[in-house]
Amino acid sequence: MYSDTQSTRQKYNRSSKFYNLMEFPIEFLMFKRWRKKLFKMLKCPKVLEVGIGTGKNIKYYPENVWVVGVDLSEGMMAKARPIVLVVTFVSIYFIYFK
Ligand SMILES: C[S@@+](CC[C@H](N)C(=O)[O-])C[C@H]1O[C@@H](n2cnc3c(N)ncnc32)[C@H](O)[C@@H]1O
Repeated sequence: MYSDTQSTRQKYNRSSKFYNLMEFPIEFLMFKRWRKKLFKMLKCPKVLEVGIGTGKNIKYYPENVWVVGVDLSEGMMAKARPIVLVVTFVSIYFIYFK
């Protein structure tokens, strides 16, 4: 694996523990609104989300969308999985690559 990729993975694995907390202000003030707007426009039944992270987009997907989430940080994805259990109408498959 390229060293840039490796260092990105390490960076996100490290910050995964406090990522949502760290992002909370900007999420609350801006991103949340943008996600709502963006996902309302989604018309396709299948999505490949590259860099699904801690799964912040998951709850904004419209019903019956089939999503494959890809990420290189297992730490970030570990935070996303429990959200899928709560938001059951979205079919999400996670792929973590080494
Ligand atoms: C800024 S976070 C965004 C997460 C999420 N999409 C969101 O809206 O909150 C970027 C995510 O992309 C992942 N990532 C970065 N480079 C990647 C790559 N080349 N392939 C897959 N995932 C990658 C990181 O591990 C991280 O979880």
